[in-house]
Parts: sequence; structure tokens; C-alpha cells
Amino acid sequence: MTTDGMLALHTLRRGVPGSLPLVVLHAFPVDHRMWWDVTDLLPGERTVIAPDLPGFGTSPSGPDVAAAVGADPAVPSVDVMGDAVVASLRAVGVERAVVAGLSMGGYVALSILERHPELVAGLGLIDTKATADDDEARERRLEIARRVRAELRVEAVYGMRTSVLGATNRVARPDLVERVFAWIRDQGPSAVAWAQEAMAARPDRTALLPAYAGPALVVVGEEDELSTVDDARSMSYQLPDSELVIVPRAGHMTSIESPQPVASGLSRLLRRAKAVPV
Ligand code: MLT
Repeated sequence: MTTDGMLALHTLRRGVPGSLPLVVLHAFPVDHRMWWDVTDLLPGERTVIAPDLPGFGTSPSGPDVAAAVGADPAVPSVDVMGDAVVASLRAVGVERAVVAGLSMGGYVALSILERHPELVAGLGLIDTKATADDDEARERRLEIARRVRAELRVEAVYGMRTSVLGATNRVARPDLVERVFAWIRDQGPSAVAWAQEAMAARPDRTALLPAYAGPALVVVGEEDELSTVDDARSMSYQLPDSELVIVPRAGHMTSIESPQPVASGLSRLLRRAKAVPV
């Protein structure tokens, strides 16, 4: 999709134009549909924008988006994802928003905070972390990217249909396992490989946290094995104006495992952001 010459990301948008928007950024390796349960719980007048990150859902590919935002198409990067989200928002007249991301979406939210701080009226970090990968995690990602590119299939990430859920829901909620699996199977190998390479290259953004004076929300599932409660506590502690929500009996995908506390936290974050004079 092209908007004023800019390659825009596919976005779901609803709510009343003019109100402070909530932008929700999805995890890997799924797309904006992982926010439906949360956005359904938000009051209808809230403006919610849920983009598909480059290559995912129906958005253009990472390299095409990189070229459109003036970056090197050969270098996968979460900054390309963030710049593309911001360009897509600006293309529809959004200059300020509450930006929230789950896991990979959180890495992108932090990139936006660093590169486009004027846009961020409030920050939501959900089942994510601000640190970079260690060498082992980086090598694991690059191996998955190599495998997915070689096989031209995304089977290398099928295991995430259970690992992103908490131990309780892996057993108690086979419907959630099936939902996540269907979303994973809908993604293309090049999107999965490009995003793995982008996440492997992401920098440590911990230093941004104490410097961000705006309202923040940190959410984590108490059974999250990928971004832990300790990661969340540490980020919340470093953010000067943060609310921490620990969601019981949920893992990494709090947005579908227990959407109500996520929606309530985001509603409170929006209220706090609106109360801050611009
Ligand atoms: C995600 O849920 O987005 C992924 O677990 C992020 C990651 O692999 O670091």
C-alpha cells in the first residue's frame, strides 16, 4: 500500500479521529490479530492503530520497507520497523500516540522512543525486555533465519505455538495453541528470517528507561519464560513514572491469554498520557 509515495504498513484502525491514539505493535512471528482480544475490551471511542510490522500479515516486505524509509534493504533492523510505523502514522496525520508493544513489538516501541521521542505520549512494554541478545541467543536466531531461508517454510518456529504460552495455558487452553499456530503458519519465511536477523542486531536500550519521564506501563505474564518477571520488574524500576502489572496464570502472550488486565492497563496508560500537558 502506498500513501503519498511512502510504502505504508497495513494497519487496523478504529475509534474516533482526533483522540490520542493507542498504537499496539505485535510479537514475533504473528501479526496484528494478536491484539484483537485486547482492543475488543477497550472503549469503542478509543482510537487504536494496530500495524502489521514489515513482512508480517499483509504489510510489504522488510527490504521493501527499508528502501522506502531510506535505510539499507540488505540490513534487517528493528529501527526500520520503528521508522516505518512512524512514517505510516504520519501519513495518516498522527504526530503523537501512546506506543505499546508486546515482545518484538516492545523492541520496536523502544526504537521509536529513541529515534522519534516527540511521538511518544506514553509507553507500554508488554512481555518484552530492553536488553540486547547475548551471543548464544543471537546465534540461535541466525540459525533459525538460515534454516527458514533454506527450507522456504516456517517450521523452524512452529515450536513457538507452545513456548509463547504459559505452562498453565499450554495444557488448559488448546484453543490458544491452535490460534497461535494458525497465525504462525500464515507468515512467510522471508518475514520470519528478516525479523530474526533484525532482532539479533538490536542494541541494548536499557539506558532509555531512566531518561523517559512520560507515563509508562510494564506488563508481564507471571509464567512468561521468554521475557521474565525479573526483566519486567527491572524495566519498571528504572522508568520514573511506571505502573507494573504482573498477570497471573499467563505466559508471554498476555494479550490472548489474559486480555483484560492488559486492556485495563492500556486504558489507564492512555488516561495518564492524556493528563500530561503537551
Ligand atoms: C516475540 O514474542 O516477539 C519473540 O519472542 C521475541 C523474541 O524472539 O525475542
